[in-house]
Amino acid sequence: MLQFLISRSFGILLLLWVLLPSSIQIVDADEDYVTQLLSAAKEDKDWLISIRRKLHEYPELLFQEHNTSALIRNELDKLGVSYTYPISKTGFVAQIGTGSPPIVALRADMDALPLQELVEWDHKSKIDGVMHGCGHDAHTTMLLGAAKLLNQRKDNLKGTVRLIFQPAEEGGAGASHMIKEGALGDSEAIFGMHVDFTIPTGTIATLSGPMLAAVCFFKAKIEGKGGHAAEPHNSVDPILAASSTVLALQHLISRELDPLQSQVLSVTYVRGGSASNVIPPYVELGGTLRSLTTKGLQHLQQRVKEVIEGQAAVHRCKGTVDMMEDEYPPYPATINDESLKKHVDMVGSMVLGSQGVKVATKVMAGEDFAFYQELIPGVMFGIGIRNEGVGSVHSPHSPYFFLDEDVLPIGAALHTAIAELYLDQHQTPFTV
Ligand code: NI
Repeated sequence: MLQFLISRSFGILLLLWVLLPSSIQIVDADEDYVTQLLSAAKEDKDWLISIRRKLHEYPELLFQEHNTSALIRNELDKLGVSYTYPISKTGFVAQIGTGSPPIVALRADMDALPLQELVEWDHKSKIDGVMHGCGHDAHTTMLLGAAKLLNQRKDNLKGTVRLIFQPAEEGGAGASHMIKEGALGDSEAIFGMHVDFTIPTGTIATLSGPMLAAVCFFKAKIEGKGGHAAEPHNSVDPILAASSTVLALQHLISRELDPLQSQVLSVTYVRGGSASNVIPPYVELGGTLRSLTTKGLQHLQQRVKEVIEGQAAVHRCKGTVDMMEDEYPPYPATINDESLKKHVDMVGSMVLGSQGVKVATKVMAGEDFAFYQELIPGVMFGIGIRNEGVGSVHSPHSPYFFLDEDVLPIGAALHTAIAELYLDQHQTPFTV
């Protein structure tokens, strides 16, 4: 028994002797890697802030990001990073690395919102009615920061990184246009981040599976026959038909959808009539549909059409529905790949510490990053900007939205580490 204990203890010691040095080396290597990366990113902080403030002062709407695009490309020129331009009017793709597989893509969106900024600060938007109210100025700046870091470290890159700067995320499906014009190239995975005001600066939030909704918009016209309001029997009243239609549409969610599934149907405007004593000839209405599955959205679109046409017919009116697919192409659901999500978690804990990675919550907002994920696995995750000290506590699309600029070097470092470590881990016998 004693002999067994001694030999077992020796065995454990031997095992520790064999394992410890290498495990310490790994930890040291990780620490060195993170320390070097973060200190390089922090050195760029003032530069990143100055770029982001320029973008914030001169925001541009979807497909009009000409100056934004030029400013970032000018910085890439100074860094000696090559890119392909134009792709989808203002978009471009920079490429860094060996030019060979594995190839990983990082993505930022460049467009602003038709929103009047109400934050009074030195770098408030100088364009009336246009604001970077969704943080895309930060996304663009962080990806530029990653371009600089990756370029400094390109000799150690074990593959290729494609940095996609796209237009028109806010409703224009810029991603789908970028894809049609070849932005993905031979990328095998893609990562994107979106600023998140619900979690503190220095953290990220991830989720695998569905994270954001499939989204589309619709408009409808219900035509009757106008007339004197005192003689409804001589008219065909589109107001009553529209009222019934709005109520009937809500049944699609409350009566037809599995209660464990998630969909939204919001009628956001009804327009009709202009006088108290006239029955108008027609009513227009419209809104948005959302579903956590792309298939669910397609089914909902079909039923919305049937209900509007059917309700109009019941009231002797004619209903027509336009899903507005040319102006606002439907966005698929944003579905995060499970193994890439684990990669982001691993990199996040390395760079930000184990407390730095939170669980994201699903939201019924849309994100055109989903178009890339239809073709290759990808992860969209939230990067925290909440800081009561600077007032970055307002939701995106609010006129009071404000950014904690401390996020800029963090995002640049995260993009860089996500890409570098992805390439490290996806070497094949052909690429080693
Ligand atoms: Ni956004």
